[in-house]
Amino acid sequence: MTMMTASQGNLSLSKTAETDSDLTPDPTALSHIPVLADEILDALAPAPGKIFVDGTLGGAGHTRLLLERGATVYGIDQDPYALERARAAALPGLHVLQGNYRDMGELLLAQGVTQVDGILLDIGVSSFQLDDVERGFSYHSEAPLDMRMSQDGESAADVVNDLEESELAALIYEYGEERHSRRIARFIVQAREKAPIETTVQLADLIKRAYPGFSKGIHPARRTFQALRIYVNDELGALRDGLKAAEGLLAPGGRLAVISFHSLEDRIVKRFLLGSEVLTPLTKKPIVASETEQASNPRARSAKLRVAERPAEAS
Ligand SMILES: C[S@@+](CC[C@H](N)C(=O)[O-])C[C@H]1O[C@@H](n2cnc3c(N)ncnc32)[C@H](O)[C@@H]1O
Repeated sequence: MTMMTASQGNLSLSKTAETDSDLTPDPTALSHIPVLADEILDALAPAPGKIFVDGTLGGAGHTRLLLERGATVYGIDQDPYALERARAAALPGLHVLQGNYRDMGELLLAQGVTQVDGILLDIGVSSFQLDDVERGFSYHSEAPLDMRMSQDGESAADVVNDLEESELAALIYEYGEERHSRRIARFIVQAREKAPIETTVQLADLIKRAYPGFSKGIHPARRTFQALRIYVNDELGALRDGLKAAEGLLAPGGRLAVISFHSLEDRIVKRFLLGSEVLTPLTKKPIVASETEQASNPRARSAKLRVAERPAEAS
């Protein structure tokens, strides 16, 4: 499949003066530069009459591209802030659905939709979530150690204060690919014996102390924060379930496009598509952002797009 060049990724919804308990949407704050925009348009070919699922609605950057070409979009997100803002924008042709994209089959069925022409997953966190320090995703700014996209379930603070040392080490190793995972887990357990770990900077500082020989380069907390975020939001489990659900929802001739941002995710997508009996991969190697896009948007540098198709039935 021919793919064109791109421009940046991921929506950015600034929360301006809101607090966590204030979901009052400010439509003017809706801004977004969807990653691999041209490539997504090429892959999904939106047109009037076509129906799409955007499983990661976020700031609706990709969704807008589909809507502008006359398509109908069912936009799913688990983040109440993203949903409020998307609803406030009242984009014609957009149906906003609250939930996890792993449940897209049930969510669409509740709308009376059993098959769609295309599905997009642009996985991970949005720049809106990262930039909103109160959400606790960033190790640079002091905030409650939260990291829950959906605002439900265990927070990152619950995880670091409750898990056994061996479980912590395993999750930091597996989801953060952090080679100092055992040492970091030991430091966490020693610290929490004195007082619970409640904030981002508290955790980041103790990881810095646990990190041998850190002077410059990648922040020592980066991999551990990634690991906690993936664990708290069950991001890899949702991806596996979401890919399976997408298989069941695509109409013959329909396409699935998945943008991932790190190797753990891309490996899951690649293996799933290779093993699928329903979908045919259209991208042997993942599509990456053009140099121009990478230069204008650093976050696009790690984006990888894989596209697959449910073959049309022979007539
Ligand atoms: C990278 S952003 C998507 C940006 C969007 N494509 C745009 O152009 O504005 C990812 C969004 O997906 C949501 N998300 C991540 N995992 C999800 C899941 N399993 N189910 C539903 N929403 C999810 C996040 O809350 C976030 O808003």
